[in-house]
Amino acid sequence: MKKYLIAGNWKMNTNADEAVKLCVGIRDGLVPGGLNPAVTVLVCPPFTSLSAASGITRGTAVQLGAQNCYPADSGAFTGEISAPMLNNLGCAYCIVGHSERRTYFHETDSFINSKIKALLIHGIKPILCVGETLDERKSGSTFEVLERQLRDCLEGISRDAMKEIVVAYEPVWAIGTGLAATTEQAQEAHARIRQFIGSALNGPADDMLILYGGSMNDKNAGELLSQKDVNGGLIGGASLKAEAFLSIIKTANSLS
Ligand code: PGA
Repeated sequence: MKKYLIAGNWKMNTNADEAVKLCVGIRDGLVPGGLNPAVTVLVCPPFTSLSAASGITRGTAVQLGAQNCYPADSGAFTGEISAPMLNNLGCAYCIVGHSERRTYFHETDSFINSKIKALLIHGIKPILCVGETLDERKSGSTFEVLERQLRDCLEGISRDAMKEIVVAYEPVWAIGTGLAATTEQAQEAHARIRQFIGSALNGPADDMLILYGGSMNDKNAGELLSQKDVNGGLIGGASLKAEAFLSIIKTANSLS
């Protein structure tokens, strides 16, 4: 049975009241009769709504995740949030290495690597985002970029620990643009990521979930999720409407 993770990355959207509404809408709208056990549903609201969302999702089929964390457990890091804090709120996942953080906050692969290590220590599954810019794709360096990001972000992580990590292939040019990768582009990149993790990084490639992210919506989800090496989606815009997000979940449910 093919496994799917359908993850909503809400980014800096929804205040606490709106987040509660969206969480309830997703929780209550899930496939009647229950989700196929091969499908995991995840929402990643802003930090300010995690506590409220935790109350709504705890004990349900909706998992909770964060969008970022700081590598230290505690201390004088004004404005930052640690992995143990997220764990305490019931976060099962945390996104790291999103291209918006790499671009606007200058996050490097080695900093992302330290976040991944902190999350693993505290029992939170990192969702590691990798992806090339349009210029990198045009110049033919897509795979080189993906492999460098994977190698440096996963440096020093054991094969066993890698089982807890989810990779999200997010071509930067597809994020928030309405222009998703074609099914061929997505499958090609996913297969390459899986192969690289297995051969160069000695990772448990066949067991790892590789999500696609970048303008996935209720219209294109079916064809993207049908690709052999696509195990789900990291969904921004289309995860902010319960109806669209639920429709993507339903699609994964029928494909698994
Ligand atoms: P998008 O965002 O679905 O709005 O393109 C995806 C992401 O950035 O994770």
